[in-house]
Amino acid sequence: MKKTAVAPANIAFIKYWGKKDEKLRLPENSSISMNLDRCFTTTTVEFDKKYSQDSFDIIGEKVTDQELTRVKKHLNRIRKKANISLYTRVVSKNSFPKSSGMAASASGFAALTLAASKAAGLNFLEKELTILARLGSGSACRSIPDGFVEWKEGNTSTESYAYSLYPRNYWNLQDILVVVSGKAKSVGSTQGQKRAKQSIFYKERVIEVQKLIPLIKQALAARNFPIFGEIVEKDCLYMHSVMMTSDPALFYWLPKTIEIIRNVYRWREEGIPVYFTIDAGPNVHLICESKDEGKVMKEVKKMTDLQDIIINKPAKGAHLISKHLF
Ligand code: DP6
Repeated sequence: MKKTAVAPANIAFIKYWGKKDEKLRLPENSSISMNLDRCFTTTTVEFDKKYSQDSFDIIGEKVTDQELTRVKKHLNRIRKKANISLYTRVVSKNSFPKSSGMAASASGFAALTLAASKAAGLNFLEKELTILARLGSGSACRSIPDGFVEWKEGNTSTESYAYSLYPRNYWNLQDILVVVSGKAKSVGSTQGQKRAKQSIFYKERVIEVQKLIPLIKQALAARNFPIFGEIVEKDCLYMHSVMMTSDPALFYWLPKTIEIIRNVYRWREEGIPVYFTIDAGPNVHLICESKDEGKVMKEVKKMTDLQDIIINKPAKGAHLISKHLF
């Protein structure tokens, strides 16, 4: 059977950086995110006896051996659950550059999990889908539910799942993604997280993040943007402090990244309510309420040498579509 799914990337407001169980991808801490409507992956999966091996293509991009191996491993998980031995053809398309800290592994594994499980004849509940997606890439579990999502850390695989805290229309937040570089990062999130444990701040970050979670949930519940934004920035800097003090050090920022951070501080002083967050890459997510998008964009447009600007609204989670890629 052939199935196609679309899944959004997501931006974490409370980030996942470090696993307490690598094989099961159990995170050290719960995380909270928002799905992004303009950054998504579309994936078509077909299981059929005409295929003599699994194939995986990303339209317009090169697939590395490592990526192919990771996708095959995920397909094996699904074949096992469906009790089938058929091979597949998988074709994906990203609306944005992969491996640049823009969570292509999140949208990629969320879309693959939904399309492949449906194509294999499985009908999982959302919670089960998030658990399965998590095994492919941790952050992918947050791309399955709608809108604003929490991934519960859990101590076992069944306890570590994601669910929607609020639907996408709950709060008109915008994520203005300023692309500083679309080049693939040299150290991916999985490798980077392994290194994080050497940071002297690793354990301290987890302790502090556990304190931020109830606070950000309160800010979300009250739609209190300044408090929300302060927590988002704090959490981002905690993660990057761990990255920078890993061994070897992981420094994802470029000069432009720092220029944008400093601009955000200045824009706030000038009265524009905008905050930043950055994932495992140099690109900066500017978080604001939609009423302030015009003001933020006016400032962003004054900057030079930016590769791209993608304005995201909160999005629904992974879903099936009828138009296949092949
Ligand atoms: C910085 O989910 O890509 O984006 O589970 O090893 O695939 P793996 O890691 P991944 O890590 C995401 C890291 C992050 C923060 C976040 O999205 O929470």
